[in-house]
Amino acid sequence: MSVVKKGNENLPWIEKYRPENLDEVYGQSNVVTTVRRFMQEGRLPHMLFYGPPGTGKTSTVIALAKEIYGPKYYKNMILELNASDDRGIDVVRNQIKDFASTRQIFSKQQQFKLIILDEADAMTNAAQNALRRVIEKYTKNTRFCILANYAHKLTPALLSRCTRFRFQPLPQSAIATRLETVLIKEHLSLTDRAKTAILKISNGDMRKALNVLQACSSIASFHEDQSNGDQVTSSKEITEDMIYDCVGAPKPAHLEYCLNSILNDDRITSFYTIEKLKRESGLALLDLINGIVEILDDHELSESTRSSILIKLSEIEYAMSKGGNDKIQTSAMIGVIKSSF
Ligand SMILES: Nc1ncnc2c1ncn2[C@@H]1O[C@H](COP(=O)(O)OP(=O)(O)OP(=O)(O)O)[C@@H](O)[C@H]1O
Ligand SMILES: [Mg+2]
Repeated sequence: MSVVKKGNENLPWIEKYRPENLDEVYGQSNVVTTVRRFMQEGRLPHMLFYGPPGTGKTSTVIALAKEIYGPKYYKNMILELNASDDRGIDVVRNQIKDFASTRQIFSKQQQFKLIILDEADAMTNAAQNALRRVIEKYTKNTRFCILANYAHKLTPALLSRCTRFRFQPLPQSAIATRLETVLIKEHLSLTDRAKTAILKISNGDMRKALNVLQACSSIASFHEDQSNGDQVTSSKEITEDMIYDCVGAPKPAHLEYCLNSILNDDRITSFYTIEKLKRESGLALLDLINGIVEILDDHELSESTRSSILIKLSEIEYAMSKGGNDKIQTSAMIGVIKSSF
């Protein structure tokens, strides 16, 4: 089956490339296999999908609904509620009850409708409590699929009524495979370093990877228009720099430059070097700290030194989140690293 439906050309890529079926949900094979088995055996339980953003929870349930009811009918058979909707008790009692209690127009083997409660961890406890009675009352002809980032924010009574499926942050290989398909469809290519950068930045979140890729595709078009107006190239190339510019994260070369200055220059020189870089590249101290923590992974350090640096940097990060003074904290960061090596 094609990954892109006709008429989807102007959609954001996260929608344009939303999985059409369960086979297109990457990196969650345990969940997909189990859910599909339940479906084929016709004994789908109430389900809780939980895990970090952009890992395929909404996509999986939509793909599941398409497989159960077919792409034509699935919209009539599901009720989707989002946290952005009013989540008072009335919504739970009325909207769900209305949907759950109307008769079925479509029923072959599957005798139930699907209610998807997205971002359920944003529901009030009262609404969750009201929901558990609704779940029991309509189990005969409905199944609930509850989606959340954090299972612990759901009431135990609700949890005990669902089979839980944990969505893991996506492995880099899963994101890379999906991106390959998108690159071909969009006539794009990534340099090796750009690929490494996008996989690192997306940090297991496919939504982030697709959003960054789409933004970079516009930057690449702009570069192409400027550089070769009449030359026709078969695919636009995305570079590492475009990716870092697009997300506003410090480039590895900048981080190495900062770290070198901290290690080799005196304190005042490295302070001014870092301040200049921050000003010219529009970087915040928090970006630098995050980046430096990552590149420290590539440096050989004893465990005790590494822990001590991390603990002190986390204190600076905390101070910044509480409104700490940028210049003082930059000096503190320099001091922490200098004194640890
Ligand atoms: N496992 C995956 N396989 C393929 N595409 C995925 C996967 N996970 C996410 N995506 C892509 O990222 C987009 C966002 O995914 P989705 O809405 O399913 O995330 P989510 O887990 O529900 O996140 P949130 O917790 O923020 O609601 C989808 O439209 C899809 O394009
Ligand atoms: Mg979702």
